[in-house]
Amino acid sequence: MQSVISLQNVGMQFGTTSVHKDITFTINQGEVVTLLGPSGTGKTVILKLIIGLLFPTSGKIFVFNKPLHGMNERELIQLRSHIGMLFQGAALFDSLTIFENVAYSLRERGRYGETQITDIVRETLSIVGLPGIEGKLPPALSGGQKKRVGLARALASSPKVMLFDEPTTGLDPSATRMIGDLIIKLRDQFNITSIVVTHDIETAKRISDRWILINEGSVLAEGAVSELASSNNQVIEFISGEWFD
Ligand SMILES: Nc1ncnc2c1ncn2[C@@H]1O[C@H](COP(=O)(O)OP(=O)(O)OP(=O)(O)O)[C@@H](O)[C@H]1O
Ligand SMILES: [Mg+2]
Repeated sequence: MQSVISLQNVGMQFGTTSVHKDITFTINQGEVVTLLGPSGTGKTVILKLIIGLLFPTSGKIFVFNKPLHGMNERELIQLRSHIGMLFQGAALFDSLTIFENVAYSLRERGRYGETQITDIVRETLSIVGLPGIEGKLPPALSGGQKKRVGLARALASSPKVMLFDEPTTGLDPSATRMIGDLIIKLRDQFNITSIVVTHDIETAKRISDRWILINEGSVLAEGAVSELASSNNQVIEFISGEWFD
């Protein structure tokens, strides 16, 4: 199995506040891995560390087997171009059409002509199950549709890895299911590796190849949910959702 992301003994402090003590895990090519942990355990910080928006106080991070430490801004930008992010809220530009929202990062890169951009926008909207909505404005869409447009925008750059920060929060059951199905589809059809931060235990059970449980600054347990279910009481409480009530 090929490692795409590896954290080795990562510690993270903000001033005198220690968020991570010793986080070690590896994510392999083509996996869907869910990162779970109580609020404030630093899950969002882990995603930001992986894309080099934050740097660890100690330890090492490797992405596509390249060490992030010592990379300059240009190298980080190059690395980020292979990683798609769907952060909470999807953050679409309300005054731009769906077409322009999805085309945004493609235009920024200046690598594609108009015809190519049109094709990519059409294709990614079709992947997320929203063909033909190019002319609409974001306020006309539901929360779930906005999330899917946010995903289409990330997919437009052909990422190898997708990072999702609480992708189903605030969505109704059918929109939640759709997002889960899409994450599986990205793995099965495009071999995209995903890290999904979530409090949504049901979605985690449905989509994950593996879970990584974070608590008090380190990895409490990791494995397939079937393996974790026969683990210790603390882990069982965790995966039954009792920690999140
Ligand atoms: N840039 C920053 N500067 C200072 N402290 C920060 C910064 N980013 C995060 N923190 C702190 O790190 C801790 C972990 O935050 P983080 O947002 O990663 O938690 P989380 O596990 O994602 O929580 P939630 O489940 O509520 O989203 C928090 O105490 C937060 O205040
Ligand atoms: Mg968070």
